Amino acid sequence: MKEKKEKIIFLEGNKVILRPIRKETDLELFTRFFNDPEVRFYLSSVFPKTIRDEENWFDNQVGKNDNVILSIETREDSRLVGLMGLHRINWISKTAFTGACLGEKEYWGKGYGTDAKMILLNYAFNTLNLRKICSTAYDFNKRSQKYNQKCGYQIEGLRKKQFFVRGSYCDEVLLAVYKKDWLPLWKKYQKENNLK
Ligand SMILES: CC(C)(COP(=O)(O)OP(=O)(O)OC[C@H]1O[C@@H](n2cnc3c(N)ncnc32)[C@H](O)[C@@H]1OP(=O)(O)O)[C@@H](O)C(=O)NCCC(=O)NCCS
Repeated sequence: MKEKKEKIIFLEGNKVILRPIRKETDLELFTRFFNDPEVRFYLSSVFPKTIRDEENWFDNQVGKNDNVILSIETREDSRLVGLMGLHRINWISKTAFTGACLGEKEYWGKGYGTDAKMILLNYAFNTLNLRKICSTAYDFNKRSQKYNQKCGYQIEGLRKKQFFVRGSYCDEVLLAVYKKDWLPLWKKYQKENNLK
């Protein structure tokens, strides 16, 4: 008889769980996500990604203490739909950058990103004791800016004409959230979604 595997959960939200990345199951999907033209339009990924590239990327993540990368699974059917992470953690200044990608496009705009980000920020602020979390987005990526703002991020600045994307230059929007601004949003979110 086939043994039923216990589900691995690192952080639990209302719509998603975040768990450690797993090469055996995630590699092919991540490769698909980062090659998809509609997805990479919003990311800095411009070169084709082979399975080998992704494999090297997975192997490089082991043992890093300035990077936390988690796979996003839906709670309803345990489907792997994307990934989210804290990058460039600076333990002296207590800052980090968040990055996210929902590679399954039918999940965009349905609150999955917000749920994942709120529980990741809870981990960043209340477990890792970070102070300020930053993010950046292309100026045309309104969905990304909106979901970050729903989690308390505010626009701190613009890098004008910073990136060349599909034939023209766009601004880079710099966003950041401080723990004190996120905390009231978290209390409300926690209550509404019955989260611990
Ligand atoms: C960015 C991303 C992680 C956000 O996750 P998500 O689950 O789609 O976001 P949510 O549904 O939680 O929130 C999006 C919000 O933006 C709104 N929105 C969607 N499209 C929008 C647009 N064109 N203009 C303004 N707001 C928009 C949604 O209505 C929603 O707000 P609401 O809940 O108040 O209605 C996800 O869309 C994604 O991975 N996109 C592709 C890759 C990417 O852009 N990564 C980030 C790079 S900076």
